[in-house]
Parts: sequence; structure tokens; C-alpha cells
Amino acid sequence: MCGIVGYIGPKPAVPYLLDGLKRLEYRGYDSAGVALLGEHGLQVLKTVGKVSQLSLKVSRARSEHVGFGHTRWATHGVPSEANAHPHLSADGKIALIHNGIIENYQPLREELKSEGVLFRSETDTEVLVHLIARHYHGDLAEAVRIALGLISGAYGICVLHQNEPDRIVVAKMGSPLLIGLGADESFIASDQQALVGHSDRFIVLEDGEMAVVRATDVSVFTVDMQPVEREAIELAEELERIDQGDYAHFMLKEIFEQPRTISDAFAGRLLPEEGGVRLGGIAPVIDRLKACKRLILTACGTSWHAALVGEYILEDMLRIPVEVEYASEFRYRNPVIDEDCCVIAISQSGETADTLAAMKEAKRKGALVLGICNRVGSAIARESHAGVYLHAGPEIGVASTKAFTSQLVVLILLAVHMGRLRNLGYNHGRQVVDELRALPGRVQEILDSSEHIRAIAEKLAGHNNALYLGRGPFFPVALEGALKLKEISYIHAEGYPAAEMKHGPIALIDENMPVIVIAPRDDNYDKVISNIQEVRARRGKVVVVATRADTKLAELADEIILIPEAQPITLPILAAIPLQLMAYYTAVKRGCDVDQPRNLAKSVTVE
Ligand code: G6P
Repeated sequence: MCGIVGYIGPKPAVPYLLDGLKRLEYRGYDSAGVALLGEHGLQVLKTVGKVSQLSLKVSRARSEHVGFGHTRWATHGVPSEANAHPHLSADGKIALIHNGIIENYQPLREELKSEGVLFRSETDTEVLVHLIARHYHGDLAEAVRIALGLISGAYGICVLHQNEPDRIVVAKMGSPLLIGLGADESFIASDQQALVGHSDRFIVLEDGEMAVVRATDVSVFTVDMQPVEREAIELAEELERIDQGDYAHFMLKEIFEQPRTISDAFAGRLLPEEGGVRLGGIAPVIDRLKACKRLILTACGTSWHAALVGEYILEDMLRIPVEVEYASEFRYRNPVIDEDCCVIAISQSGETADTLAAMKEAKRKGALVLGICNRVGSAIARESHAGVYLHAGPEIGVASTKAFTSQLVVLILLAVHMGRLRNLGYNHGRQVVDELRALPGRVQEILDSSEHIRAIAEKLAGHNNALYLGRGPFFPVALEGALKLKEISYIHAEGYPAAEMKHGPIALIDENMPVIVIAPRDDNYDKVISNIQEVRARRGKVVVVATRADTKLAELADEIILIPEAQPITLPILAAIPLQLMAYYTAVKRGCDVDQPRNLAKSVTVE
């Protein structure tokens, strides 16, 4: 979602603002803008498109020492210069940037219009800057506080007033906001990544809090004016400066990182001698976890697909009911939850608003809530009673790849851990541990065959539709393969349980429909072969992902991608890799913007 950065201090603000926005651009990239306050007063510069466009408009040589910047993901109003942030008050003295949604903006807009306020944009945000102006009587923080009392929704905001050049006022409800502390300078960012190299200590603003950020001090208080003492946190050491290396895109880099990210997900956690695993993050709640009778996994997007694979794994190993819920539906369904239930939220970013809302609902109803996420210290990590981190490192490509496979590894770890507390025997636990240890090498073998996958993808690139089929845990892998393809290549793709195809989607199959079948050798293998025959009988083009020793499928398929032999538990991870590569190469062939596909955002911090 939108990226926010701000600076106040002795140095020119523009270099940090542009660098920070560039690093946060994966969060939203349809338009961008900055507000700068200096001897020429308050100036706002905006552009449609990416931060590189903004850099053409905003010279790095500018001297202002105070300012903030924003990169937008449109919610209300098309991407345009008028709708881009910052927004200005009618007198041009107050500038505001906002990440989130103001839910009651419509009546407020009508009210302000009836008072004669002229709106320049279609955004929900603009009402807030006019409300602040209406309540400004020489104290910006007070005006912001009153205005926030009139709105409902989610926000991370930064506000500047021309007459108060020594401060930026910030506030948070639902959308992340951090304040980086330097020597005589302060930084604002919606994500730690923007702070790397500038400030190694920062304050996290919590919901319902505001801060007055000056160069030399930061005062935090609640919207009810209660002062807040907040400890500064050290910037995580593992935060690397985002670097694409020699790869053409972040997504390709992240796909190729998977042998390492997978082993990082289980590093220090395997106990081969005990046929088990160690998960320090859930140790404090282990008794409750042991007693729980039902699991609900909740997530969005790719993380939801990981949850669906997890359902098979956890149910199989724990023999308790496991359900998967879209986080966005969960809280509106009045789900049946009690204290015997454990809700596990899965999220790469740790920020997804729907997932957070689902967790809050589960907590309200008394469930134990665990978080599986990648971002250390993120909102989801803080909202959970306990959890497990992925340790996959920053994922920048909007289409999630390495986080997905790490989520699957962590779900396997959780299944073994919980299983060993119940009925799972040593031998079974040990076998899974050994499989995990063998996994990075097997993933590398698939990556080594990327040229073969590229050749198949280049043929796929000429089509407008694709169908992905799988059975058992390969059904969610099919869903994920289809999602990857549609996200970045804009080819319409659907995932289906292979056997369900004959109940509808079969009507679509002809010689122009590529059908990608995930068919590694497992218990359903023979059944999947029948499904492939059904496709072939209708002249569909079949691409099969199969395990290496397969002899039957090569004859049936138009194209075959072989993955190493493995125990069924890790096969979904192996099968996902060629599908990621296939989506990537297809999108490249079609000339698409792989890392920043149209209309999407990396983390969706609005409901
Ligand atoms: C967005 C992204 C998806 C991601 C989903 C859930 O829609 O574009 O790639 O899977 O959010 O994100 P999370 O960070 O919670 O895993």
C-alpha cells in the first residue's frame, strides 16, 4: 500500500525522500509526490507514475530541510496528479499525506462543500486536510487531533504547516508509521526499509497515537493527549539494503534465493535426534496449543494458498479439524470460535489489514492466536499471542514467491512440533526432518532447469487463458500457479481441483487452452492421469509438472517439467517452483512490468 517518508533536520530533505520512496515503491506505484517546506514557503510537487518520474521533477539540489513524500496505491479516484498526495488546504499552508482509507469521507465532503470548500481531488484523504485547516488556530498538533476525532477509518498521516516549520505532526490508526531517530535529525517511514542507512533506532507508533516530530526530539501522545513513553528499537540487523544484484527483476532474484530462504526457515529449528523441531516463538503458549482441538488458518492471497496446503499437512499429522478462511470474510461471518480453538494468521508483510482484523476478531472470541509472518515486529507479529517468523528476508517483487515456500516450510515445522506433542511418532517426525534438510538441494535442481521452463513459458505467452489443475495439496499449488500467472502476465488463469474440471471448466477446453497439470507421484497419481486424458480428448495442450522417475506422463503431455523425487510432504514446495518460473518468463516474454504489475500492491493495509 502507499509508502510514506519524511525528514526534518540539518540536511536537505530531498535525497532521503527520493531514496526512501524508491525503496517503498513496491508498496504502491501509480503516482508520487513530495511536500517541502523552506524559505520559499510550502511547495508540493507531484506526478503520475513512478518515483523515477518524480525524480525528474524534484531536483536533489533543493535545499529545504523539512519535507515528506508519498507513493500511492489508488483507492478513491484514478491515478492522476490531482489525486496524488500530498494534498493541500485551500490556503496552501497545510500539506498532508495519508496511507489508509477514511471511511466516512462522503458526508464530511458534502458538509465541507456546503461550507464553500473547493475540492481539487476525488480522494477520501482531501477531507482530512480541510478539516485540519478548519480547526487550525495556531497549533497544528491540536488541529490534527480534533480533525482525527471526526473521521473513522485507517490512517498513517504526516502533516506540515507553513507557520510551524520546526515540526511534522504524524498520527497512526491501522497503517504502519515509524519515526527514525538520528543525531539532530528525525526520519519518518511507513516501513523500516526506508530507514536503512539513515537511522538505526526508531520508534513504532501504535494505533491511536500521534507524535510531534522535531529534528532534536519526538513527543508521542495519544489522541486523548496522554503522553506516551516509547522505547526506541534498534533497526533489525538482518535488514539488508534492497538490492537487485545481477538479476533482471527482484522476482527472479527472489525465486532463485529459495534454496537459501527455505533453509533459513528451518535453520536452528530441526532436532533430528529427537525426530522433532524447536520453535522458540511458540514456547510461551505451548500448553494451550497442546490442548487445542481445532485449528483455523486465515490469510489473504498467496498466503491463503499456503494455508490451504497447510490444511492438508496439519490435518494429516495432527488428526484434528483444520479449516482455512479468507481473512477478509472471517470477521463478517460470526465464526464459531472458543478457547479450544487456535487461529493461525499467515502473512508475508505482517501488515495486511484483513488478516489483522481477523486476528482481532479471533482474540475477541477467546481463541489462541498465532502469527506466521516474515516481517519481524510487524503489526501481525505484535497482534499475535505467539508466532513463528519466516526469516525469508525482504520480498520486493509484488508477486510473492520465496515467502510462499517459507510459509510452507514453517507450516510443516508447526505440524511436526504439534504432532510430536500428540500422537506423531519419532520415525515419522525424523523422516520429515530429513526431508526438509534435503529440500534446498532439490529446489536448486529445479532452478538449474530454468531454461527448459523458459522455453515452455515462451509458448504460453501467446495464449490469453490457462487452466491449472491439481489434486490434494496440489490443488492449492494449482491455485497459486494460476495466481502468479494472472498477477504478472495478465493472462486469465484459473486453478481447479483436477477432478472438478469435468463439472464445468471442461467446456473451455480446446486446442487454444493450455492446461497445466501438477501431477507428482502421490496417492492420487493414477486419478490425475485420467484427468489428463480427458483434457487430451478435447485437444487441450497439456503441460505437466511430474516427478523425475515418471515414465507415463512424458507420453501423454505436450510439455513436461520434471521435479526431483521426494516424500509427499515437501512435494507441494517443489511443484510450486516451476510454476513461479513459468509465470515469470511468460510475463517477461509479454513485456510486462514483472516487479510492479498493474493495479496491485505488495501489502494491502486497507480492508
Ligand atoms: C497482496 C499481495 C499478494 C499477497 C497478499 C497477502 O494482495 O499483492 O501478493 O499474497 O497481499 O499479503 P500478506 O503480506 O498478508 O501475505
